[in-house]
Amino acid sequence: MKVTVIFVMNLFVLTALGDVTNARSKNRGKGSMWWGIAKAGEPNNLSPISPGGVYMDLSSAHGTLRRKQRRLARENPGLLVALHKGANNAIHECQHQFRNQRWNCSTRAFPRGKNLFGKIVDKGCRETAFIYAITSAAVTHAIARACSEGSIDTCNCETHYKGRPHVSGNGGGAAVAGVRDFEWGGCSDNIGFGFTVSREFVDAGERGKTIREKMNLHNNEAGRWHVKDQMRQECKCHGMSGSCTIKTCWMRLPPFRVIGDLLKDRFDGASHVAASGHHRNNNNAHQNRPPKNPKLNAISSNSIHSKRENRRKHKYGFQLKPFNPEHKPPGTKDLVYYEMSPGFCEKNPKLGIQGTHGRLCNDTSMGVDGCDIMCCGRGYRTQEVVVFERCNCTFHWCCEVKCDVCRTKRTIHTCV
Ligand SMILES: *[C@@H]1O[C@H](CO)[C@@H](O)[C@H](O)[C@H]1NC(C)=O
Ligand SMILES: *[C@@H]1O[C@H](CO)[C@@H](O)[C@H](O)[C@H]1NC(C)=O
Ligand SMILES: *[C@@H]1O[C@H](CO)[C@@H](O)[C@H](O)[C@H]1NC(C)=O
Repeated sequence: MKVTVIFVMNLFVLTALGDVTNARSKNRGKGSMWWGIAKAGEPNNLSPISPGGVYMDLSSAHGTLRRKQRRLARENPGLLVALHKGANNAIHECQHQFRNQRWNCSTRAFPRGKNLFGKIVDKGCRETAFIYAITSAAVTHAIARACSEGSIDTCNCETHYKGRPHVSGNGGGAAVAGVRDFEWGGCSDNIGFGFTVSREFVDAGERGKTIREKMNLHNNEAGRWHVKDQMRQECKCHGMSGSCTIKTCWMRLPPFRVIGDLLKDRFDGASHVAASGHHRNNNNAHQNRPPKNPKLNAISSNSIHSKRENRRKHKYGFQLKPFNPEHKPPGTKDLVYYEMSPGFCEKNPKLGIQGTHGRLCNDTSMGVDGCDIMCCGRGYRTQEVVVFERCNCTFHWCCEVKCDVCRTKRTIHTCV
């Protein structure tokens, strides 16, 4: 299955190389500048001022933020630190999910904010869809967790679960043994706050007017929904010697890896949507239609007030059409793209693609990490290397782990 996908992508190498223009980068929407927060304020700039919070020198990122984003950061002390954490989780997770693929989510060559993931985001392709979804998801996750950890001043543990479901026998002692009632208590991750603030912050630059902005909004939203749907109940037993006559429960988000895995599945099955609002097959049907003028349409609405209301209502109210009219329209949690991925085999500085020369591959794997696919048929080199690694580790009471350093020979394969 995966083999087929890669093969199809390969066919588009030639077409993709031809149509890269500078104009394209203006089409990608304005919502990616904030990614620079990931690289701002390295750990030595994090200094505690009060027990409850940390101050972070994010002045270098400040200039890349939009006015609305700066306002959110100002009004919610602690938010920037959570965003910084979220953006880094996104990078780490993206690189984990794509470690064995031709495109490996490298950020090394692109230290600056808006180019954090390279110029690949100038294209409305699958990889870009994944980048938007994972960054938006990671920010939602980080904010929800930061609230319950008390590191954002304006939010707290989510409490609306309290008192909603059944409540066990009031106060200790009254509950009958074996009755599995519980009380909401503890501290739930604040997914409500995380979801809302992620929408406000991450989507600040996307108006939802062009296909690219709609794509970004859809993928941002998909990332958030994957996080929201992963809230799970955790409980703790009280009562005598763990008899669990009293149980307290709260809602908690799983480790971000769980969401990374889900989004990777959606990447593999991403929906190809129609670029300009009409289907592949009707291309000829509308040739006599007068040219569209979206600006004129926007101006013609009644008043500024209604215009603003509409904008809010419709920002998320669109439905993207599938490229192939026989396919289902994309669902809320699907990733969407409208352009084919470029080839990742060869170096392409225009798109910031490094190529797979020198990448490690697996000579026995039939998958995307196998040498045939990873090296794009160019072949590979086999070497014996000596690696030094920790081994034979033993635990010494208390509390030390001692290891030997072992010398092992290993065979590695790298693409030519
Ligand atoms: C990704 O691939 C590039 C070469 O294409 C390589 O230099 C880099 O180490 C790889 N891994 C990461 C995490 O960037
Ligand atoms: C290479 O691929 C094979 C087959 O998928 C797998 O069993 C093996 O663990 C892989 N080796 C490495 C070093 O990843
Ligand atoms: C591991 O430790 C044991 C006991 O100290 C030793 O006999 C053995 O040689 C060690 N193995 C390696 C690979 O270093």
